[in-house]
Amino acid sequence: MKKTVVVYESKYGYTKQYANWIAAALSCPVYERKNFYPANFASYDVIVYGGGLYAGGISGLKLLTRNWDLVKNKQVILFTCGLADPNNPDNVAHIKEAMSKTISPEILQNIAVFHLRGGIDYSRLRLPHRMMMSMLRKMLLKKEPCDLTSEDRELLATYGKSMDFTDQKSIAPLVKYIL
Ligand SMILES: Cc1cc2nc3c(=O)[nH]c(=O)nc-3n(C[C@H](O)[C@H](O)[C@H](O)COP(=O)(O)O)c2cc1C
Repeated sequence: MKKTVVVYESKYGYTKQYANWIAAALSCPVYERKNFYPANFASYDVIVYGGGLYAGGISGLKLLTRNWDLVKNKQVILFTCGLADPNNPDNVAHIKEAMSKTISPEILQNIAVFHLRGGIDYSRLRLPHRMMMSMLRKMLLKKEPCDLTSEDRELLATYGKSMDFTDQKSIAPLVKYIL
């Protein structure tokens, strides 16, 4: 029986929801990144890490990249949780492009990656995040509509609202990959 652990970082709870669903489906422990010590990787064969997408980066991913030597001989699965719809190939291509700038080719070749859709509630955003989204919106409104990516359009369509796209069924491919 493979020993599996799910570790996540979540700023508003969407990634946390997925981490809990995945851990329940795999009957394994789940830890918030800040409560998980890298030395504990040694106790597991399969590591699932999940983080929210923030301006293309994956929240808390340094836990894996900085401790790659501790996990490189294990099965490592990464899931992202963002607002952009991962059923749209353009959005996935964009996430992958951003990942290739921050994650080394060695790591990318040795992990399985899944993309899940989270949500956003502007009334709960902390001030720096609210300001970032406001600046991004202003930049996007200056673009010609034909130059907007599908991700840009989704951001504009959901701006200021509360949207929750989390879907328990969408974890199925990730769970199947591990079992
Ligand atoms: C400042 C900011 C930047 C974001 N950047 C992205 C992004 O680049 N791509 C994306 O798909 N979603 C982006 N989002 C949306 C978050 O990824 C989404 O809210 C996610 O569900 C957050 O998960 P969490 O609550 O677990 O951290 C951004 C949200 C904020 C507030």
